[in-house]
Amino acid sequence: MEKTQLLISQNKDRFITELFELLRIPSVSADPNYQGDVAACAAHLAAHFQSIGLENVEVITTAGHPIVYADKIIDTALPTVLVYGHYDVQPADPLALWHTPAFEPVIKATPIHPEGAIFARGACDDKGQFFMHIKALEAMLQAQELPCNVKLMIEGEEEVGSPNLALFVSANKQKLKADIILVSDTGMLANDTPSITTGLRGLSYVEVELTGPNRDLHSGLYGGCVANPINILTQMVASLHDENRRITIPGFYDKVVELSAADRAEMAKAPFSEAAYCEALDIRDTHGEKGYSTMERGSIRPTLDVNGIWGGYTGEGAKTVIASKVFAKISMRLVPDQDPEEITRLFQAHFESIAPQSVRVKVLPHHGGQPVVTPTDSPAYAAASLAYETTFGKKPIPVRSGGSIPIIAMFEQELGLKTILMGFGLDSDAIHSPNEHFGLFNFFKGIETIPYFFKHFSKIQA
Ligand code: BES
Ligand code: MN
Ligand code: MN
Repeated sequence: MEKTQLLISQNKDRFITELFELLRIPSVSADPNYQGDVAACAAHLAAHFQSIGLENVEVITTAGHPIVYADKIIDTALPTVLVYGHYDVQPADPLALWHTPAFEPVIKATPIHPEGAIFARGACDDKGQFFMHIKALEAMLQAQELPCNVKLMIEGEEEVGSPNLALFVSANKQKLKADIILVSDTGMLANDTPSITTGLRGLSYVEVELTGPNRDLHSGLYGGCVANPINILTQMVASLHDENRRITIPGFYDKVVELSAADRAEMAKAPFSEAAYCEALDIRDTHGEKGYSTMERGSIRPTLDVNGIWGGYTGEGAKTVIASKVFAKISMRLVPDQDPEEITRLFQAHFESIAPQSVRVKVLPHHGGQPVVTPTDSPAYAAASLAYETTFGKKPIPVRSGGSIPIIAMFEQELGLKTILMGFGLDSDAIHSPNEHFGLFNFFKGIETIPYFFKHFSKIQA
């Protein structure tokens, strides 16, 4: 991989310029106003893939946003790596909180990224990360050092739950045939502490609506006599956790796989500073399920969080009113072997059962996803570990993450393939938040590390 690495080191400025072009396209999948930009982003990528020598480049239309596919088959007798990523991004709002515009990338240094970081929506999640693969492939192709076959599938709907990708995958099993799936859409512990993500949480997401009286009422004339849906909802939501901050939905923990004491001890070896964690978030203390560490609460334990709650009067001044309706959006992060559909059913039955007669309840299920754990005793993991050791000079630590990528479990079900989650972002990179960024160190380390994965995986697999 010497020639590949030399090419990478000689083309760093151009790689940044090209990533900037990609980041300038506001490919927000959730907002219909950006549909044209999402399509333009897919077209831009397809043209770029063509220009670096990838073959069978296709923009595949779906009922939603397009999927971009490309491959390079050098010898059908060699193993095949399928790279997955997403070119869609989260909405940029609240816009006022960005120090520089979300779709005008700039490089600025931060205490954690003294070499500089690229600030833009999608810089880390996931444009900057899947683009590392494109540049690594470009270098390997140019150096004639690509050691195996590669297929690329970059989708445009990950941030809205990948509603159309599952259909495409199950209808194209032959086209997507591979030996391993490789994804950079997660993080690592720190720039001097490389880690490989070995698990993702699942997700069950619901919206609830409570209706009290048939119209908004004067809170003096009716207050104390009819149920105030906002009062009721807040009580119901509060009752979803007990005094040990465990979730009270009957059956919620039934399928949770408890880790052995040995596995928990192994987990506790990963460097983590509670004080630094609190300081970075400006909080005096952490908060979560009794009996578990912060690392555990954020990865191997299931959770329930209100993501938004609205109703009643929230404008200027005071309006004395009892609202007719109140709403909330609630996410539950799941761990093996919880099933999102079952958890959604348990939530619905419980939530309806705890509502008093004085209100009516509606529960609307949104998208969900299965949790995943990836093996650390596989040839692919060994190849990834060796790759990190080569570029970081340290063995990576296996770490389970709290985030979700629902399509990963689907890949295993539909294609029978395991995934290697080689993420290079940091938790502090503010993905989904204002001022999202991706360190230059991380971007280039990713580009340098990926070719070694290809090299070692091809050798081990052959
Ligand atoms: N890339 C993230 C997930 C992620 C980030 C996993 C960091 C591990 C570490 C992905 O784009 C994402 O945001 N997923 C959503 C779920 C999706 C259904 C909207 C999430 O986790 O909330
Ligand atoms: Mn992502
Ligand atoms: Mn995301």
